[in-house]
This record gives sequence, C-alpha cells and structure tokens, in this order.
Amino acid sequence: MQRKPVILLGAGGHAKVLLDILLEQNTEILGIAEKDGVERPKDLFGVPIIGSDSDVERYSPSEIELVNGIGSIGSTALRKRVYEKFKALGYRFRQVIHSSAVISRRAVLGEGVQVVAGAVINIGARIGENSIVNTNASVDHDCVLGAHVHIAPGVTLSGGVTVGDGSHIGTGANVVQGVCIGKGVIVAVGAVVLNDVEDGMMVCGVPARMKI
Ligand SMILES: CC(C)(COP(=O)(O)OP(=O)(O)OC[C@H]1O[C@@H](n2cnc3c(N)ncnc32)[C@H](O)[C@@H]1OP(=O)(O)O)[C@@H](O)C(=O)NCCC(=O)NCCS
Repeated sequence: MQRKPVILLGAGGHAKVLLDILLEQNTEILGIAEKDGVERPKDLFGVPIIGSDSDVERYSPSEIELVNGIGSIGSTALRKRVYEKFKALGYRFRQVIHSSAVISRRAVLGEGVQVVAGAVINIGARIGENSIVNTNASVDHDCVLGAHVHIAPGVTLSGGVTVGDGSHIGTGANVVQGVCIGKGVIVAVGAVVLNDVEDGMMVCGVPARMKI
C-alpha cells in the first residue's frame, strides 16, 4: 500500500532528530510546520518550512500523516496539546522508528510513538500513543507507558515499571524494577528512582526524592 506523505510539526532539536530518520528512510515529506512568531528559515536540510500549524489544515487528513516534532525537557504539555489538537481534527500520526532500535515483536507501540537510535524495547512492553523513547534508552520487559510519555536519552527502565500519561523521565535516569511512576511526573536528569512516585511530582537525586 502506498504510504501517505508526512508533515513534520516543529523545527527544533527533536524535530531534527526525527527529520534525519525520515530522510534516511526515504519518507516523502511535504514540509515542516513551525509555530507562529518565530523567525523561520526557508528550509531545514532541504525540506521546506511550509508555514505554521494552521497551514497544515490546508491538507485533508485523508491526504497526509503527521509527525510530532515537539520534544520536552520537562513538561510534556505542549507535545500533548499539539497531538490532541490534530487528532480532534481527524489527522493520524505516523510512528517513527530508527533502524538501529531493537524492539521486541512482543511489545506494543501506540499511534505516533517515536523510538530513536539505539533504543531497546523489550518483550511485553506497551508504549502509549505519542510517547518518545529517546536515544539509547531502554524500556525493559513488561513496562507499561501511558500516552505522551518522554523517556529521555540514556534512561533505563528496569522490568515491569509503569509510567503514567505525560510523564518525563530525564536523561540518564534509572528506575528500579516494578516501580510505578504516576501521571505528569518529572524525573530529573540522573535520578535513581527506587520507590513509587505520585502524580504531578518532581523527583531528583540518588536515591530520588520529591522536589515539589
Ligand atoms: C528536574 C528539572 C526539570 C528541573 O528544572 P527546573 O525546574 O529549571 O529547576 P532548577 O534547575 O531551578 O532546579 C530546581 C531544584 O532542583 C535541583 N535539581 C535540578 N535538577 C536536578 C538533578 N538532575 N539532580 C538533583 N537536583 C536537581 C536544583 O539543584 C534545584 O535545587 P534547589 O531548589 O535546592 O536549589 C531539570 O533539572 C531536568 O532534569 N530536566 C530534564 C532534562 C531532560 O531530560 N532533557 C532531555 C532532553 S531530550
């Protein structure tokens, strides 16, 4: 079946990482949509910047698929908002998977999930829609991630960890087996999480302690 062309939403760091994967996989990219109010170059690595989010709506949901290029360095709210806005308009989000990612055939990935270079997703894991498993992160057996979760570069989730919707697990953090991380949690860079974390909390340090 002929795949639809894609539009990439965003032109920042995460968008560039995805653009690289899409280009390497010879994906037909109609262009990149950048938010209003920023000075835009004409193109990014030869792919035209076609306007802002509102210009995406010139294309019908039956003609194109979208790729969410908005990353997070803490709150995942903007990434979620953009995804939900376009879903409500009937658009579909393409999964983006780097060729070097190792993903068990017995793992389940939701719509629009992005798995970047060197990431590993093991047997029985479930990754909710619009989530990111970033560079060299590992999500071990039976982990369950909600929607709009960002597992940042170099994170290790041991087996059976759960992560609630919209949580951000910061670069290089380690989470011990079976821990439950709630919704909207931020785990700081380098934290070692040994205990469950309630919804909306920020935890830092080794071992991780609540910050707010
Ligand atoms: C946790 C985080 C969101 C806090 O950022 P912030 O809200 O700007 O907070 P600040 O840097 O002002 O730090 C607030 C406090 O937390 C502490 N803190 C922040 N990051 C910490 C860390 N990784 N380990 C231990 N303590 C940390 C600060 O020392 C400060 O403590 P204080 O109140 O006693 O002075 C940020 O440090 C972080 O880890 N972001 C994740 C980045 C990431 O994953 N990027 C991936 C991109 S792909």
